[in-house]
Amino acid sequence: MADNIATLELPGNDSIELPIKEGTAGFDVIDISKLGSKGYFTFDPGFLATGSCESAITYIDGEQGVLLHRGYPIDQLAVESDYLDLCYLLLYGELPNKAEYENFVYTVKTHTMVNEQLASFFRGFRRDAHPMAMLCGVTGALSAFYQDSLDVNDERHREIAAYRLVSKMPTIAAMCYKYSIGQPFVYPRNELSYAGNFLSMMFGVPCEEYKVNPIVERAMDRIFILHADHEQNASTSTVRLAGSSGANPFACIAAGIASLWGPAHGGANEACLNMLEEIGSVDRIPEFIARAKDKEDPFRLMGFGHRVYKNFDPRAKVMRETCHEVLAELKVNDPLLDVAMELERIALEDEYFVSKKLYPNVDFYSGIIMKAIGIPTSMFTVLFALARTVGWIAHWKEMLDQPGHKISRPRQLYTGDPKRDFIDKDKRD
Ligand code: SDX
Repeated sequence: MADNIATLELPGNDSIELPIKEGTAGFDVIDISKLGSKGYFTFDPGFLATGSCESAITYIDGEQGVLLHRGYPIDQLAVESDYLDLCYLLLYGELPNKAEYENFVYTVKTHTMVNEQLASFFRGFRRDAHPMAMLCGVTGALSAFYQDSLDVNDERHREIAAYRLVSKMPTIAAMCYKYSIGQPFVYPRNELSYAGNFLSMMFGVPCEEYKVNPIVERAMDRIFILHADHEQNASTSTVRLAGSSGANPFACIAAGIASLWGPAHGGANEACLNMLEEIGSVDRIPEFIARAKDKEDPFRLMGFGHRVYKNFDPRAKVMRETCHEVLAELKVNDPLLDVAMELERIALEDEYFVSKKLYPNVDFYSGIIMKAIGIPTSMFTVLFALARTVGWIAHWKEMLDQPGHKISRPRQLYTGDPKRDFIDKDKRD
């Protein structure tokens, strides 16, 4: 038996040979694309064992708790790099040299303003609209404002769209927050860092100059780094699927934002903090642990578990260290952190969680850090979307750069009615 062939035995003494494709790391894949010729589809709801594409951007080893961006480990990037350095790496495949970095930073910083008409677009929302609802709507609307970067078959258009999205997402995210609290929008300040500028647009007011706290600025940049990309997660797969039809980049990113919003995905950081607040004190933790184990109770411990990581999420490890640093440096004594730490301790010792390999994920600590630096809970997933935009765009560009890419169109196992004739209305029971 050749090493690069899998033979599938089929009923009726039939079989098919399926090629095995090797990657540079991780699982090899069995190419089942010819299986239809034998009258079968594969069946894998939730895509537990299905590879949807080839990609060179991010590699995850769930058993070893490894996360690499273009080969570089996340724990090195989180400490040594900065978010725009990582953006360049994700988009172009290599760390930028000094000139490339300075040019990239200059280009991003000089495209942070949005079309002024977009400010009036916000006026259509109620003030109490969820910021994610506004972010999703406004991002999709960008295709109505930036017509000169919509042609997905034009490489220059794709590059301009990538710059616009990385540059403008912090501005739009901050506008969602300002609108929700009835404060005026704050314009970007190009002399600030990417994270510093975001903090200024979030917390600055026209009446006085905003001073960026370097500790908060560094924590914000690290949160952006830790959320930048994560292989073929639900929202990235959504962006790829939307992009496969040729939809414009802003519509694809809006689709990714919509998918990320779910509490099982990027909405988990907001849900996790709400859960910690509902638990309220350490002595109520056993009650919630019991609920998480109860098959009849839909409750899950938000911030725990992961489809891929069956050991510690490497991002959670860095986030945990950052959490303690930020709280200590800001002298924040947050009782919710006590609840979080006790919940983590109990869960990591509890047979149910150990047997199901449910460990804290990236969302478990990010919410506590964001709360400590003054980000409201309703904005947590907005920040996740802001940071993940570069990952979504990198995957969108990679897909379009691949020769012969097709529209994604899965098949199904049909379990509905067999063919039957129409019944006239007056003849129905
Ligand atoms: C992100 O994919 C990515 O990479 C996502 C992400 C990224 O960067 O893009 O990493 C970001 O989305 C992180 C995950 C954030 N979500 C949460 O914290 C929500 C809580 N977690 C769960 O909803 C769940 O763990 C998932 C959705 C994250 C993973 O679900 P899976 O892989 O489909 O696993 P499952 O639901 O089949 O659970 C396996 C078992 C089940 O029990 P059994 O049916 O086998 O008896 O574990 C149990 C589940 O009931 N379980 C939990 C649990 N998560 C899974 N039980 C209690 N609490 C939990 N959190």
